[in-house]
Amino acid sequence: MLSYQILPGENIDGLRCVDLPDRPLGTGEVRVRMHAVALNYRDLMVASGNYLVNVDDPIIPCSDGAGEVVEVGHGVTRVKPGDRVVASFFPCWHDGITSQDKTKHALGGDVDGMLAQQVLLDQEALVKIPPHMAYVDAATLPCAGVTAWNAIFVSSNRARPGDTVLLLGTGGVSVLGLQMACAAGMRTIITSSTDEKLRRAHELGAHHTINYRTMPEWHEEVLRVTNGSGANVVLEVGGKGTVNRSLSAASMGGTVAIIGGVSGFGGEVNPAALLSGAKRMVGIFVGSRAMLEDVVRFVDAARIEPVVDRVFPFHQAQEAYRYMESGSHFGKVVIAVN
Ligand SMILES: NC(=O)c1ccc[n+]([C@@H]2O[C@H](COP(=O)([O-])OP(=O)(O)OC[C@H]3O[C@@H](n4cnc5c(N)ncnc54)[C@H](OP(=O)(O)O)[C@@H]3O)[C@@H](O)[C@H]2O)c1
Repeated sequence: MLSYQILPGENIDGLRCVDLPDRPLGTGEVRVRMHAVALNYRDLMVASGNYLVNVDDPIIPCSDGAGEVVEVGHGVTRVKPGDRVVASFFPCWHDGITSQDKTKHALGGDVDGMLAQQVLLDQEALVKIPPHMAYVDAATLPCAGVTAWNAIFVSSNRARPGDTVLLLGTGGVSVLGLQMACAAGMRTIITSSTDEKLRRAHELGAHHTINYRTMPEWHEEVLRVTNGSGANVVLEVGGKGTVNRSLSAASMGGTVAIIGGVSGFGGEVNPAALLSGAKRMVGIFVGSRAMLEDVVRFVDAARIEPVVDRVFPFHQAQEAYRYMESGSHFGKVVIAVN
């Protein structure tokens, strides 16, 4: 069974393809033949050693994949051979609010992930996907899809159709968030460094687009196009370089969902920026298996086709990582496995 492995911190050069022996299934375990694996910014952080993982040995990287069940172990009732599945980013967080126990064993971080021809997963991690959903599309949902869903529909302050959602940049989380918010009848504003990417975002349904390079005070433009109200929900993926502008761009009573730090972490937030508008900041930690089930259901019902910028063959995993690292992608980067 061919599989990629990496020791966190070895960088992309350390990503290597190895032939691992098949392991027999334990009780409750399921063997999944992978078809597609989607990359996330977090996979770059694991490779560069900038993501906290407690491992001393190489791991199979990547949290997000879709495949077909080929064998089930003793006691498995959730799935059967032939089922098409994705797995929850946190296999132990099934539902409800999170906890340390629920968020340990994140795939492709603390435990082996998905970048392999076959993976063994606990049945409790798995969510079935509909027969007509492409594996490449389904692979984008467990991290990027669930994170966007959690931010817009779960952790926001009762966001609803007609509300305004602000998305920063055109990476995986933001473009899936854009597609979901548009499908839910929300008004959307998206930023990017690149006019061509903004044109594509507009084609996807974005109501307003802002180039954050040519308009560094982009929060003022958000206020302008919302007649001074601001955005009800902000998907804050930027970190220290953007968080204060995101707070300024949020409406009174609005939610800034703290998701990432593509510009780095640190910096200062003035508490007054929250209290004067009764604004909320909430940390997002991907989400639960129940949220993944909701995302699969919503994407299917709303006929959302996640934007996949490029699909690389399995033997070009390093190239896929490097493409992602270059930041030229719009939406998701996927590796086709079988
Ligand atoms: N907390 C969680 O549960 C969670 C889950 C998923 C992701 N994340 C985090 O969220 C962030 C995005 O993840 P991703 O997988 O979507 O990454 P990605 O696909 O690599 O997208 C990153 C995008 O960020 C944009 N960007 C870069 N610098 C920016 C800036 N200063 N202001 C605004 N946008 C900027 C760029 O968009 P343009 O090219 O359009 O400029 C870039 O394409 C990462 O920090 C990741 O670790 C967190």
